[in-house]
Amino acid sequence: MKTLIVYSSLTGNTKLVAEAIHEVFGPEAGLFPVETAPSPTDYDFVAVGFWVDKGTADKKAQEFLKTIEGKPVALFATLGAYPDSEHAADSLKNAAAFLDASNQLVGTFICQGKIDPRLIEQFKKMPGDHPHAVTPERLARYAEAAKHPDAGDLQAARAVFTDIKIKLLQAAGEK
Ligand SMILES: Cc1cc2nc3c(=O)[nH]c(=O)nc-3n(C[C@H](O)[C@H](O)[C@H](O)COP(=O)(O)O)c2cc1C
Repeated sequence: MKTLIVYSSLTGNTKLVAEAIHEVFGPEAGLFPVETAPSPTDYDFVAVGFWVDKGTADKKAQEFLKTIEGKPVALFATLGAYPDSEHAADSLKNAAAFLDASNQLVGTFICQGKIDPRLIEQFKKMPGDHPHAVTPERLARYAEAAKHPDAGDLQAARAVFTDIKIKLLQAAGEK
């Protein structure tokens, strides 16, 4: 099964998850930053990773997602919000909407990733009525995000993608 793993990562969080997923598929799988990703045409399975930007895939990942046709696709992502939040689920859903209907979404993984401290500094300057104004809850979430992705997240990503790999190989064998 020719596998392509493409990730978009500004500060390295999503890259770490991509590398963990790459371990599942082995050295023969392609692992590329989105900036140098090949065309997905020649691959049997495509995994695309992105950092959540305003509740959806970041722009570079969006553009790559639009190029995929007729493939099983899995999405993985990192974000500042909690992974079990509605925002996380919506971000995955919004990203999946960039996929052509000829693809099949076969799985997703999302975990927290440390937020760029410069962004937090900007939030701290915002007036109290601004949607990004800091509150004790938000500061606690940023502090939690700062610990991720951790070893548990990377292990969870490997587990999700091991499952996906087994299912895809079974499906290929049944053909
Ligand atoms: C400009 C910008 C916008 C962001 N928007 C969101 C967002 O809408 N929701 C969220 O949960 N996290 C958001 N984040 C946090 C990032 O998604 C998170 O830190 C991610 O792990 C960064 O991944 P990377 O290290 O691979 O670039 C944003 C970060 C930046 C810099």
